[in-house]
Amino acid sequence: MSVRPILVYGDPRLEAVNAPVEIFDQELEVLVDDMFETGWRAPGLGLAAPQVGVNLRLATVDLSVGKDSDQKIVLANPEIIETSGKISLEEGCLSFPGLFTTILRPRELVISAQDLAGAPLELEASGLLAQAICHEIDHLDGRLLVNHLRGIKKKMFLRRVAKMRKTGVWSA
Ligand code: NI
Repeated sequence: MSVRPILVYGDPRLEAVNAPVEIFDQELEVLVDDMFETGWRAPGLGLAAPQVGVNLRLATVDLSVGKDSDQKIVLANPEIIETSGKISLEEGCLSFPGLFTTILRPRELVISAQDLAGAPLELEASGLLAQAICHEIDHLDGRLLVNHLRGIKKKMFLRRVAKMRKTGVWSA
């Protein structure tokens, strides 16, 4: 397993089109292992493949951040099937290090996806898990935190981004 560099906002790969995962081979297993390792080290609750420069519809989620292997979730080609309720939640992203904003998210959702072996799976989630899954699926659609914001809220967020870049807190 190795830690890969996490791309920060501004890198075009974060907003590029992500191709479906079609080949479930050893190379994919290595990528997934690296994504977990990278997420744990960051630390973060999840990571999407485009964040490590791989434009595939693939994400990892681990709310335990490496403490409990039963909580490791691999989502290949995830799709939201159903959502219910809305909740405004504070959210950060490893591609916007140090920044947080509030985003409207579904309270509960059902998704379909494929696991690391390509087998279909269906998952019901609520709370933090639902939020994390939504966040990662957004990445696979090239949708970043900033794309949820409008008007003055967006302007202020982008000002904070510019400040982070200037102070060199962001490495890229
Ligand atoms: Ni993110």
